[in-house]
Amino acid sequence: MCGIVGYIGARRPVPILLEGLKRLEYRGYDSAGVATMNGSDSLFVCKRAGRVRELEHALPELPPKANVGIAHTRWATHGPPSDNNSHPHLSTDERIAVVHNGIIENHSTLRTMLIAEGVNFRSETDTEVVPHLIARFYEGDLQAAVKQALGLIQGTYGLVAMCVDEPDRLVVARNGSPIVLGVGDNEMFVASDAPALIAHTRQVVYLEDGEVAVLDANGFQTTDLSDRSITKAVNELDWEIEQISLGDFEHFMLKEIHEQPRSIQRGLRGRALPEFGDAKLGGLNLDRRAFFDIRRICLIACGTSLHAAMAASYLIEELARVPCSVEIASELRYRNPIVDANTLYFSVSQSGETADTLAAMREIRRKGGIVLGVVNVVGSTIARESDGGIYIRSGPEIAVASTKAFTSQLLALTLFAIKIGRMRDLSAEAGRNLLRALAEIPEQIEHLLAEQSDHLKAIAESISSAPYVLFLGRGGNFPAALEGALKLKEVSYIQCEGFAAAEMKHGPIALIGDGTPVIFISPMDHLHEKTLSNMEEVKARGGRVIAICNPGDNEVRNVADEFIEIPATHNMLTPFLSVIPLQLIAYFAALYLNLDVDKPRNLAKSVTVE
Ligand code: AGP
Repeated sequence: MCGIVGYIGARRPVPILLEGLKRLEYRGYDSAGVATMNGSDSLFVCKRAGRVRELEHALPELPPKANVGIAHTRWATHGPPSDNNSHPHLSTDERIAVVHNGIIENHSTLRTMLIAEGVNFRSETDTEVVPHLIARFYEGDLQAAVKQALGLIQGTYGLVAMCVDEPDRLVVARNGSPIVLGVGDNEMFVASDAPALIAHTRQVVYLEDGEVAVLDANGFQTTDLSDRSITKAVNELDWEIEQISLGDFEHFMLKEIHEQPRSIQRGLRGRALPEFGDAKLGGLNLDRRAFFDIRRICLIACGTSLHAAMAASYLIEELARVPCSVEIASELRYRNPIVDANTLYFSVSQSGETADTLAAMREIRRKGGIVLGVVNVVGSTIARESDGGIYIRSGPEIAVASTKAFTSQLLALTLFAIKIGRMRDLSAEAGRNLLRALAEIPEQIEHLLAEQSDHLKAIAESISSAPYVLFLGRGGNFPAALEGALKLKEVSYIQCEGFAAAEMKHGPIALIGDGTPVIFISPMDHLHEKTLSNMEEVKARGGRVIAICNPGDNEVRNVADEFIEIPATHNMLTPFLSVIPLQLIAYFAALYLNLDVDKPRNLAKSVTVE
């Protein structure tokens, strides 16, 4: 999930490349590097382990004058973070430079072949075979040499190549890792994600797998690997640069937690039909007849998106009265799935680029299944390859720890559940009740954030030294408990797990010792009494009960050591609210531990490799 930036035009490339890398640092941040022309007959290359700021400090005050350059920020797959393993990687004669995102799966075989031909490798990376292969085929045509090199490569790539002998162009290729071109005025940009481009242009072109583009200052030409010309549409980015700036917030994670009232309002806008207790979702590409033929729904996702899908599955089954299963994408793709014509599949993904979710979707579609996307990033691969879908409209999510995407994905799937439910047994009144409750969620989150933040900060600090934390919930709040555990572990590195509350007795209760923090989600719903019993079981073993409950719940307040009040809402919608305290607890724990909240160790924002 590396960050790639390239530039060609009349301006000096290094400032543009560095600014772009900083916008992409959430995609990977263990090392970084740049390459530009250095005069007319050599390359200037600077690369460093560490954050982009290390690279910036290593660069000379005045980098060489140039009109073309490439840059990279890395999330290591092969070889630890080091100066040598940083990109760009060079051919032996140092006349060709390449930056790459993805995995060259047959890199060992290619490395052995190239070493036998006399190549001396400088790094431990899979990527380094690429510039050596290009040089092996180079006879004065960089594009042709890149295509010949790609003919030997198995695996995934989003790559940009430059060559001293062709200083007026960049060659870009994509297979399995996102690449977007930026169209400027007499200048061109390329990046692995649009935030690197928004400061310079809103005109973007998304490359598809198997496409190669040649960029010069006047524009771009696109062909496939067989040199067939391809015409590409130019799209307009639909968000502002402010949305990828910190504003008054210290971290993107906190900013995006606080954005949820607005992101939910955006997700609702134009989609709720209170008069009919129904929802309007353009883009599903399903005719009314198709809705009647749906006998099962299957949601496919990873990570936070998996938890949003799990929470939505309770709503879909309850409202639409069709079985709804949730699949871990990485498991589904290798299980030779059984696909039937009456199952509707959804791939749920914030980035729309997660390799496992994309591969699972492709496998289902290859077997004839219909897959809709529930995606945030417009124009992303999953959005473009699905048979239709729902954009969640949560706005760019920069923090590695996903927060607003969870509530926006849950909202999109809730609206779908209402829509399909109203074509079955869901009454107009029941639909109206849900829509009314949904319409109140933004303000309820607003109040929660305003009233509970200090209290949550204190709770977060009190658990930050715990060796282990348990999150427990029932019904749709079981996935919320899973999400709370994922948030805490990924930003604070505290050992923690989420479980279905009743499941605690089947093993995890052995982990309860004196003072073990157990965070319960216990709204006053039909499962309230059961969850209360679980709290008593924890107390009886010396555990510390922290309960997320509704105002006035004296039963919980009499048992719990700490309680966090969330507003009451429709029983089916409590995960929208219960997840907010969990997000903030994770954030404040990481802050208290002085960890890098937005760039946690070992992680990257979009997992575009297996
Ligand atoms: C969640 O905080 C993580 N960043 C990660 O689990 C993420 O949700 C997962 O990789 C799925 O990403 P996607 O929604 O972009 O597909």
